[in-house]
Amino acid sequence: MKREKNKKKEIMPVHIAIVMDGNGRWAQKKNLPRIEGHRAGLESVRKIVKAADKCGVKCLTLYSFSTENWKRPRVEVEFLFRLMEHRLRTECKNLCKNNVKVNFIGRRGQLPQVLKKTMADIEKMTGKNTGLNLVFAINYGSRQEITDAVKKIVRSGVPEKDVTEELIEKNLYTGKIPPPDLIIRTSGEKRISNFLLWQAAYAEFYFTPVLWPDFGEEDFLKAVGAYGRRKRRFGGIKNGN
Ligand code: IPE
Ligand code: IPE
Ligand code: MG
Repeated sequence: MKREKNKKKEIMPVHIAIVMDGNGRWAQKKNLPRIEGHRAGLESVRKIVKAADKCGVKCLTLYSFSTENWKRPRVEVEFLFRLMEHRLRTECKNLCKNNVKVNFIGRRGQLPQVLKKTMADIEKMTGKNTGLNLVFAINYGSRQEITDAVKKIVRSGVPEKDVTEELIEKNLYTGKIPPPDLIIRTSGEKRISNFLLWQAAYAEFYFTPVLWPDFGEEDFLKAVGAYGRRKRRFGGIKNGN
């Protein structure tokens, strides 16, 4: 693998997850309706997917809609789903061409039919791609994910002695994805907002005041650079400290 040849790349995160926050405030600052912030936010998505792919990240997870985001006005929620559906459909060819594999995590049941269909289509169309694994968390909530995993395990009738961390992990929506090495949150908020609670056990966090629609390749590389300077210990000790 290329990553192993290049010493500088050894400290690259394999999996980056991003809480893309600040669309509303970005629009507010410009006296625009909140939905314009979401529209502008999609441009950042495009830029960051490209940047992640370019620097050899294997997996990129983007928090796009939380289970708590249903509390927002219906028009905003509907606009977000329409925007996602449209963009996924129009970007599909491009993602395929770039060997990107797309997956979704979250509860799909409540999502609009047309969005669910586009999600299934794009997963199928990109399923065999071997490049960047791009994961969208849509109607995602980590507590719901853990609850769903427990339900699945109970339903399968596994005896108590066989309930292990590995089994729980396997039953999360992220069962086939490695845990995030780096979690970025934009817009200055320093919280996790029900995102990847289990998976983030040993993730590095990077918080930036930059609002998501203003977050570009340079900001992304800054976060990756900061990650490279962190000392991950996983509870052990490293070089004597
Ligand atoms: C993030 O931006 C996008 C979603 C949560 C869908 P926000 O819409 O939360 O923007 P702020 O936090 O209100 O600025
Ligand atoms: C988290 O952002 C969810 C997404 C980015 C999709 P929110 O804006 O919903 O989070 P809170 O409400 O500020 O915690
Ligand atoms: Mg927000």
